[in-house]
Amino acid sequence: MDRIRIQGGRKLHGTIPISGAKNAALPLMIASLLTDEKLVLDNVPRLADVGLLQHILSNHGVDIMVGGKRIGDHENAGQTLELSAKSIVDTTAPYHLVSKMRASFWVIAPLVARMGKAKVSMPGGCAIGTRPVDFHLDAMRALGTEIEIESGYVLARAPRGLKGARISFPKVSVGATHTALMAASLASGETIVENAAREPEIADVAACLQKMGAKIEGAGTSTIRIQGAKRLHAARHAVLPDRIETGTYAMAVAMTGGDVVLAGARSELLEEALATLRQTGAAVTITNEGIRIARDGSNLAPVNVSTAPFPGFPTDLQAQFMALMSRASGTSKITETIFENRFMHVSELARLGARIQLDGDTAEVEGVERLKGAPVMATDLRASVSLVIAALAAEGETMVHRVYHLDRGFERLEQKLARCGAAIERVAG
Ligand code: EPZ
Repeated sequence: MDRIRIQGGRKLHGTIPISGAKNAALPLMIASLLTDEKLVLDNVPRLADVGLLQHILSNHGVDIMVGGKRIGDHENAGQTLELSAKSIVDTTAPYHLVSKMRASFWVIAPLVARMGKAKVSMPGGCAIGTRPVDFHLDAMRALGTEIEIESGYVLARAPRGLKGARISFPKVSVGATHTALMAASLASGETIVENAAREPEIADVAACLQKMGAKIEGAGTSTIRIQGAKRLHAARHAVLPDRIETGTYAMAVAMTGGDVVLAGARSELLEEALATLRQTGAAVTITNEGIRIARDGSNLAPVNVSTAPFPGFPTDLQAQFMALMSRASGTSKITETIFENRFMHVSELARLGARIQLDGDTAEVEGVERLKGAPVMATDLRASVSLVIAALAAEGETMVHRVYHLDRGFERLEQKLARCGAAIERVAG
């Protein structure tokens, strides 16, 4: 298994290109199942999760062509995928695939909407919590799907097609909102989704569904209205920039010091995180190119943070912010409200010298003057990258093990950081 070796203590200077968002690319790829025509997606990040979803979708019968380089392409350009689900040959998403990537459960919506049936493995728990799928199933039921659970599989049937309905989520869920949106796009009549997730990735998927022929109003707000279409058609869509990658590198620079432009980043996708960074003392400027983040040698101020659905502080940046606060001059409190067990990074950050006390859903982080390199173990995607940014600011060498988690969600992480002066390399093993 590959490892990443980091010699800490170097400031970051330069430009980091921001890739397309993983959490938009995945549902956009799944949306290709909704039509028998071609869906072309640009700016798709080269990530292990994208590769795995390609595999899962091809199992359903989707032909996928990965575009090659074109003359004039920027070396950091994302890839273009052409997805064609002309005929869906298999409506089963088996356990061995769904268990590798939770988001693949979302295929249930387009499969039922188009084929009238699906058999999808329950995704099971994961490192950050139990993560049930009840909201997804309730949304599908509301639209007219019969659901049975058998031997770990959801058997979903809608032989007479889906019918628009009012769906009101008890709690904001990104995935269940994607499910409702996709299913409603091929349902007859109007669907109203209340307490919908407002994450930018929802609006991005809705924009693509509209290009495919669905009529959608209010995506990006908590009430979405969808007029379903009989069939959807070909479209071309570019994935929006990754706000979590943006926030992660911004925190890395705040941590090590330096001056970096996050090229292609869009500040409106992470206002709350940027405001929090400013409170710590980092300089955040919006430029024509993207977002510039700088910190001189001055101390970091401690800032309390509580995660919340968009537009709040994202749970996907909680671990990275905790790494940053481990070097603040004072104590901060970080509360996780979305997932019950998303503190796997605490014990690993402690190996680098961080002082963190856990009390239920809140971590109290007492800033220390210096962190020291150590061998650490990546647990989940965002936890892993929090270890990387802590290691960049730590004295001496850190070896991050189990980096496949990083490959799931960060495109060319070592190259992007190394180009800005970080001493970071992958050790094959
Ligand atoms: C999405 O997961 C993201 N994944 C996650 O990113 C992100 O952390 C999360 O949204 C929150 O922003 C993708 O977009 C692929 P939820 P999702 O449904 O949709 C509970 C990363 O690192 N819930 O919004 O699975 C759930 O347990 C990943 O890139 C139910 O109770 O998250 C959680 O407490 C990790 N029943 C809360 O809702 C359900 O049926 C929000 O989860 C569904 C969710």
